[in-house]
Amino acid sequence: MKNFYITTPIYYPSAKPHMGHAYSSISADVIARFKRLESFNVNFLTGTDEHGLKIQRAAEKENKSPKDFCDIISKNFLDLTKKLNLSNTDFIRTTEKRHIDTVVRLWKTLVQKKEIYISKYSGWYSISDEAFYTNDEIEEKNGTKLSKTTGSRVDWVEEDSYFFKLSKWQSHLLDFYSNNPNFISPLVRKNEIVSFVKSGLKDLSISRTSFNWGIPVPSDNKHVIYVWLDALTNYISALNYYEKNNKNEFWPADFHIIGKDIIRFHCVYWPAFLLAADIKPPKKIFAHGWILSGEEKMSKSKGNILDPIEIIDNYGLDEIRYYLMKEVIYGEDGKITPENLANCINSDLANNIGNLYQRITSIIHSRLESKIPNCSPKDSTDVKILNLIDNNLNNLIATFNKLEIHNYTKSLIQLFSEVNKYVNDTAPWSLKEDSLDKRNIILYCVLEFLRKAFILLQPIIPDKSKIILDSLNVPNDERSIINITNSFKILPGTKINKIEILFKKHDN
Ligand code: MSP
Repeated sequence: MKNFYITTPIYYPSAKPHMGHAYSSISADVIARFKRLESFNVNFLTGTDEHGLKIQRAAEKENKSPKDFCDIISKNFLDLTKKLNLSNTDFIRTTEKRHIDTVVRLWKTLVQKKEIYISKYSGWYSISDEAFYTNDEIEEKNGTKLSKTTGSRVDWVEEDSYFFKLSKWQSHLLDFYSNNPNFISPLVRKNEIVSFVKSGLKDLSISRTSFNWGIPVPSDNKHVIYVWLDALTNYISALNYYEKNNKNEFWPADFHIIGKDIIRFHCVYWPAFLLAADIKPPKKIFAHGWILSGEEKMSKSKGNILDPIEIIDNYGLDEIRYYLMKEVIYGEDGKITPENLANCINSDLANNIGNLYQRITSIIHSRLESKIPNCSPKDSTDVKILNLIDNNLNNLIATFNKLEIHNYTKSLIQLFSEVNKYVNDTAPWSLKEDSLDKRNIILYCVLEFLRKAFILLQPIIPDKSKIILDSLNVPNDERSIINITNSFKILPGTKINKIEILFKKHDN
């Protein structure tokens, strides 16, 4: 079995998780599940980013020590992995020993390789972004200095600091991007990064002295390590990278899934740290867009934060997973509105997918004692439905692997529409005595379509797919892509189990 390693960003647990965080995680989960369908051995990592001034301030507000504070709030993100039905195989907290040990080892390696020197930092810093900005990157609004890109407040900072020789890596990075053309996706992000690096890289401040909630710099504990150097290392510390154990077979990671706001850290700093430490960079970084609340960016001050738990409780988990994967172009911004959500659930999930299953199985329950009929389809219209998924399989797989998850989902739903049309045209419920063979053929072909289609829908709607595949008695170890064209077929004579309504309709 080939290994596959995928990660989400690790989340700042200073505030409650919102729909943007859930989106990063759900999309990574869909990919992890798809790679398992393709029979990869998948390591899927998520977690929380717990050091830095932002967390220290949030803990102070609650009158708690940062560690006690993190122990409580990190749980919100751990709970969210359950609520989202993530198939993660690990959850890392940057306050764990395996992480701290790895960051210290990486730091020492960089020192040994003369990649780090001490000097003084003076410049702008945003606590909210935990990022340094140059004069060109800030603007003034109502007397406050703000980052032009994120709009968050920046303050002037002057302190002793260790620096990483980032400038030295400029041409290596540019070579790396051109030798690995798929390293950054989508293209628009790659172009952004390449032009940023071409415009010149300055050495990077990688330690702070004005607060202490972080990993102390080895042998100079006035300093704590810059939270981004600390956080990025999670991707290898979760593997206990320096322990040289079996888990290292997962490195380099196949995909880091991130939001477009954090590409500079992942596409410039991270590969530079790794190259400097003689570690291979990850294979691919994919930056998705923003989830907007209506037409706007979510923010506390606007009061439009979308709470994933509330949305899931109102609409259902698979429903929201489906909506996000189909309606948001992966890599671009997308919005969530109650109307769009209800429309999508009603038309695709209830009227198309759910209806097809219900129409076919209700005939089987009422006329065939719930048993799958015996038949051998020969007419080209029937055989077409029987093989509809097989004939589209290569395209579907290629589309998914280009990370066009929205197109993959759309193509599947179009196939459901085609099968619904076939059922409308052939009207199996109206076929009586002298046409029972024909009726059975129609039912069988649609059931086979459903078996294959729900195998492919598992990454997106895992709970509902399981219900359907269970009802069709598809064995658990026959639910991979390989089983679509191979071996298991729906067995005539097997009983189909009755299920509740799959998808409820919503008012819009
Ligand atoms: N802790 C850093 C990541 C370190 S990774 C080594 C961080 N955390 S975060 O909690 O602020 O954001 C985590 C992810 O959530 C980011 O990828 C970010 O893009 C994503 N989202 C936050 N708001 C979002 C939306 N409104 N929409 C989509 N994703 C957004 O950054």
